[in-house]
Formats: sequence, C-alpha cells, structure tokens
Amino acid sequence: MTVDADAPVYVAGHQGLVGSALRRALLRTGHRNILTEDRRNLDLRRQDDVNRWFADHRPGYVYLAAGTVGGIKANATRQAEFLYDNMMIHANVIEASRVYGVEKLLYLGSACVYPRQSPQPIPEDALLTGPLEPTNEGYSLAKIAGMRLCDFYQEQYGCRFVSAMPTNLYGPGDNFDPESSHVIPALIRRFHEAKTRGDNRIELWGSGTATRDFMFVDDLADACLFLMRHYEGPGHINVGSGAETPIAELAQQIRDAVHPTCEIAFSDDGLDGMPRRAINADQLANMGWRAVTGLSEGLRRTYSWYLTADEDVRRRRRRPDVDLEAADRAGATSGVQRTITPDPAFSGSEA
Ligand SMILES: NC(=O)c1ccc[n+]([C@@H]2O[C@H](COP(=O)([O-])OP(=O)(O)OC[C@H]3O[C@@H](n4cnc5c(N)ncnc54)[C@H](OP(=O)(O)O)[C@@H]3O)[C@@H](O)[C@H]2O)c1
Repeated sequence: MTVDADAPVYVAGHQGLVGSALRRALLRTGHRNILTEDRRNLDLRRQDDVNRWFADHRPGYVYLAAGTVGGIKANATRQAEFLYDNMMIHANVIEASRVYGVEKLLYLGSACVYPRQSPQPIPEDALLTGPLEPTNEGYSLAKIAGMRLCDFYQEQYGCRFVSAMPTNLYGPGDNFDPESSHVIPALIRRFHEAKTRGDNRIELWGSGTATRDFMFVDDLADACLFLMRHYEGPGHINVGSGAETPIAELAQQIRDAVHPTCEIAFSDDGLDGMPRRAINADQLANMGWRAVTGLSEGLRRTYSWYLTADEDVRRRRRRPDVDLEAADRAGATSGVQRTITPDPAFSGSEA
C-alpha cells in the first residue's frame, strides 16, 4: 500500500515524544499535508468535539499517539486518570475515524499491556494470558481496550485499524519532570544536575542487573510509517530495538554522554523491579524492518536536545514557542542518516 504525499495525515498527540517524531518522519519522507491540533483547541476526551474536528478536517490516515503517559510514580498514583483519559481519547479517535471514513489508522499501544509474568522477550500472543502489573493497571487496561477496539472495528466494520506495541522509548521531546519521567530522562537529569553541582558520585537504586529494551523514538516513528504501509493485522505487532540493556550499562552510557567523570554506585537494596523485560520483535524483523540507532547515539542526541530546551519545556509545563514545522524541518536534515530498510516500495512520497 502507498500513501500519497498530499493525503491528509492526522498525528494525534503531535507535540508529544512519539507524535513529534512521527511529524519529523512524515516531513522527512515528503509529506505535505500533516494535520495537527493543539490540545487547547481540541480535548480528545470529548467525543462531540472530536467528531466535529474530523468532519471539518477529513483525515485520510491517522496516527493515534495522544494519551496520558508517565513513569512508575505517575502511573501508580494517578490510576483513575490514566484509565479514564486514555480510554476516552482512544475510543473517541477510533470511533470518529470509523464515522468519517479514515482509510487507515495506526494505534500506539505499549509493551506494558502484557502480563507481569510473560515469557521474555514477550511475544505478541502473550496478551491477556495473565494478571497485569498492578502499579500500572489503569494505563494497561486502557491500552488493551484501545488495541482490542482496533481489532473489533476491523472485524465488525472492516476498518483498517491496526496496533503497534512499542517498547520503552526515549529521545528529543521526552518528559524530564522528575515526578513523572521514565528512566532515561530521569537519569539524564540526575547526571546533568550532579555535573552542575560539581558532584562526582551518584547512587542508584537496585543492583543494575535488570535488563530492559530501549528504543530511540525516531526509529519507532520510522517503524510506524513502515507499518502504515505494510501491516494490515489482524491484531497487534511488537516494535522493539532487538537489544536488551542492563540498567548498569544504561547508567554508564548516560554517564559517558553527560558527566564522564562521575562514579556510579548501586544501593543493591532489592529495588530492581522485573529482572528482565523486553519484547520479541521477530515478526517486524521478518517483515523487513529493524531499528538503526544505537543506544549511545540515541542518548547523545537526547542529551543535546535536553541542553537546548528550557526547563519549562523539559518538564512539560510549556510547549516550545517556536515554529514547530520549521524546527522539524531543521531536525529532519540533521542527526544520523536514516534508512528505512529494506522496502522496495518506498519512494520518499509515501508514509
Ligand atoms: N514514551 C514511551 O516510552 C512509550 C512507550 C510505549 C508506548 N508509548 C505510547 O505512545 C503514545 C504516545 O506517548 P508519548 O510518550 O509520546 O506521550 P507524550 O509525550 O506524553 O505525548 C502525549 C501527547 O498526547 C497529547 N494529549 C494528552 N491528552 C490529550 C487530550 N486530552 N487531548 C488532546 N491531546 C492530548 C499531549 O498533548 P500536550 O502536548 O498538549 O500535553 C501530547 O502531545 C501513547 O499512547 C503511549 O502509550 C509510549
């Protein structure tokens, strides 16, 4: 399947970590008709408003990357909000996409939909085979509902709505607020602040032996464009880096990028969480797509962004006061050379 460069493509959540990377990827591949809407003008939790917006703008393709997202603490203490907001946003956008005849929709799920005791690396068919991690149950239930909604809309209405399950993501535009950030932005901030204070030692929880799967967000965006062209489901597909990184190695790499002279100590207090958590991305690899950005390169680019963003933007208190399209175009021509491989259909005018 090809997507014309002038086809109206709606990125829901375009100012977020994933949404902004999707916009960069669409611009890089020649898209000229990217639809976005500021959350202040369109609260996606309101079905009538969402329907009106779809009636006015008539998107042909939708990337659904809007939602209430956060780290362990935010998930554990705001479960009602995570469940309500995400259920509403996802159901409203999916339903409006059906009503207004969207050609194809890609829903962003999350690896935390999988049961706590899943086999590692987690295959797609582990879904709904056991209890969820209780600390993010609200978020996970909403994500499961969103992806099953895509499946059911495909079954009942014939809609081409599919879901991608990304692993842990990081990159420019991430949330660096210590109250709600994920592990990579949290560690970047800690090393940066230690460097600023002149501290040369950082103590981290756990033993550092637990492993996780981290993916640079521009790789994820490329995978999403690839899936929009090539994946028809049914069901969901994992998107992972294909690599597992021990937390100790992650911390060392962040230290090397941010504050190379800093010593790292692990408290070894048993606060490791799951010993291993990664997703099995074989299905996507068999379709011909692989991530291209190594962890050290991705961390370097994320820290560069951190240094240029002001504190309110890093903490998500404010969105950048810049011409976002111009900034994205500049971003699209800097950084690593990206290749979407191997995809003979790719012509630079598709998504
Ligand atoms: N980050 C990860 O590691 C990760 C991993 C796997 C999957 N995912 C999935 O990827 C998707 C995007 O995540 P992300 O990390 O990009 O999150 P994010 O950076 O927090 O971005 C979320 C976006 O959704 C928008 N949004 C939130 N509530 C809204 C509402 N009521 N109305 C309109 N817009 C609203 C936000 O708008 P504002 O900019 O105005 O706040 C923001 O642009 C989520 O579905 C998440 O589950 C993320």
